[in-house]
Amino acid sequence: MAEPTITLNVTRYRPGQDQAPTSQRYTIPYKNDWVVLDALNYIKDQLDGTLSYRWSCRMGVCGSCGMMVNGVPKLTCAAFLRDYQQQEIRVEPLTNFPVIRDLVIDMSDFMDKLKSVKPWIIRKTEKPLSEGEYLQSPAELEAYQQFTQCINCMLCYAACPVYGLEPDFIGPAAIALGYRYNMDSRDEGKDLRKDILTGHDGVWQCTFVGECTEVCPKHVDPAAAIQRTKVDAAKDWFTSYLLPWGQK
Ligand code: SF4
Ligand code: FES
Repeated sequence: MAEPTITLNVTRYRPGQDQAPTSQRYTIPYKNDWVVLDALNYIKDQLDGTLSYRWSCRMGVCGSCGMMVNGVPKLTCAAFLRDYQQQEIRVEPLTNFPVIRDLVIDMSDFMDKLKSVKPWIIRKTEKPLSEGEYLQSPAELEAYQQFTQCINCMLCYAACPVYGLEPDFIGPAAIALGYRYNMDSRDEGKDLRKDILTGHDGVWQCTFVGECTEVCPKHVDPAAAIQRTKVDAAKDWFTSYLLPWGQK
């Protein structure tokens, strides 16, 4: 009996050399335990060494293998061929990002946005080492723990229609990261993150489509971080408006 096969329809593009992206079909062996990344690796090793894409860990940790699979942002190392009940699977670069080559996108805008929220613990005054660690209760850890699970895969940016229309929007993962530090009981930097999180390109751009949370492979719920940051900002505004001395 003939071995089962499956076809991948893959975007090819070399900006600067090609007029526009094209797609190329590769028919490969179908294996029940293969993920889309295995299929791409087969193509690269056996059929076409010029195909370019990113990956590293192959276990849903590094966040580098995100691509559009049949139009949905996915980690290709976690997208099993068997879950696509058809003979052809479409693989494209993550939407909303410039393409460097084939399936490799330029992530520099995303990296700048992550840095812009000051993702580190900020102290107004550091206590001396001799006084020991900053202790935290389980409840204090729980307040931000889910937001530490982000692997910077950018799937939420590919899914976000606001980022697609307004590239200056700092976006779901950066806001979730800023919120993570604001909620950390050891941190005192909320005021320093305020302008970026709640300014012109911050949370108020979000129209609460919620796709960011839908596609997140780590269940981070950036949509919740955005809405909670809006509520906090509104509370701060009312406090400063009604009780100006309350801010002091
Ligand atoms: S929030 Fe989720 S989807 Fe967005 S970058 Fe982090 S892990 Fe990826
Ligand atoms: S290869 Fe690391 S998350 Fe997929």
